[in-house]
Amino acid sequence: MPEISQRAQGALYPSVREMFELAAEEPDAISFAIGEPGFDTPRPMIDAAYEAAVHGDTHYTPNRGAAGLREAWCRYRLAHDGLDYDSDGEIIITTGGMEAIYLALIATLDIGDDILIPDPGYANYFGQVRMVHANVVPVPLYAKRSFRMCARDVETAITPRTKALLLNSPSNPTGAIIDPEELAAIAKVATEHDLWVISDEVYRAFVYDDDVRCLSIASMPGMKERTIVVDSFSKTFAMTGWRIGCAFGPKPVIDRMTIMQENVVSCVPGSLQAGAVAALEGGSDILATMKSAYQTNRDMVVAAIADMPLVSCNVPDGAFYILVDVSATGMDDHEFAVRLLHEGKVVVTPASGFGSRGRGFVRLSYVGTTEDTAEGLRRMRSWLTTL
Ligand SMILES: Cc1ncc(COP(=O)(O)O)c(C=O)c1O
Repeated sequence: MPEISQRAQGALYPSVREMFELAAEEPDAISFAIGEPGFDTPRPMIDAAYEAAVHGDTHYTPNRGAAGLREAWCRYRLAHDGLDYDSDGEIIITTGGMEAIYLALIATLDIGDDILIPDPGYANYFGQVRMVHANVVPVPLYAKRSFRMCARDVETAITPRTKALLLNSPSNPTGAIIDPEELAAIAKVATEHDLWVISDEVYRAFVYDDDVRCLSIASMPGMKERTIVVDSFSKTFAMTGWRIGCAFGPKPVIDRMTIMQENVVSCVPGSLQAGAVAALEGGSDILATMKSAYQTNRDMVVAAIADMPLVSCNVPDGAFYILVDVSATGMDDHEFAVRLLHEGKVVVTPASGFGSRGRGFVRLSYVGTTEDTAEGLRRMRSWLTTL
């Protein structure tokens, strides 16, 4: 067989997927490993997709997405956080947020360029950057600062080949939200060093405390022209399997991403886009239900961890993840996760898969039912007391 390309070999298999495979050996285990809403998509979205298909929306659609969805999404972001984009040229509908990130990386980075990535950060960033033959330069996030990114650490990480900075607030896996003043300072650094900013905002809707503000860097003066905002229906409306995301950005870069879209997947299915319009128009109930359930779970997890031996955590600001420091157990995060699975019947994700600064932590995703969450925490506590 001829050799498989270096690019393909750059792709990485995230540790969360490995845990799913291991967890299959323990069918009674309670899982804190799932990175998606524990709710099904509500009926109105499904009905809208069905109606669209029945009425003939079964053909190729425009490369940049159906006009109705582009318009509805631009209106939604304007109403929710004041971001003002032209639905004709400054938005593209993609196959989930993931494709939007991938197209944004190709559009901004040449081979050998450097991109600043939060560490710990979403595992797929690392594989995607390797696949475009660019280099990850980690921006360290510290538990003592609740994993909130600081402008000073961004500036220190910049190299002569740095072309872009990736932000993710609220963050997977830390749940941290970048402080607005720090975000303004990061914007200044990005401008001074002429960087692209890819702002992954797929957890934007999950902010729990009234005194925490989650801003988009694109809303800061002068930033819209250098920022690609990535958004998605997956988490906000419990639609992970629909694979609908988008990117907002300056027209020239969105135009290039649209041509690449044609070259790769051509377009996103029309009936699914119709379901997404229904989510924007009537999805506020599911979002409110999920938020309230996750907030209850978050508070329960934080209180329970504080009461467990050998582990500790920060209070996460948003998303539905929490990083738990397990270093005092004497195990590395992988060994901790595997033993907790087999001996305690609880699934968590070792955080070293989210970058080197994730070592010594495990990620819990608190999207389960209240009962499962309480039972999972009870099991974890009783296993820890046996150590
Ligand atoms: C930080 C982050 N960005 C982007 C995505 C991609 O989401 P999707 O492609 O389902 O929109 C995920 C999914 O888990 C994520 O955690």
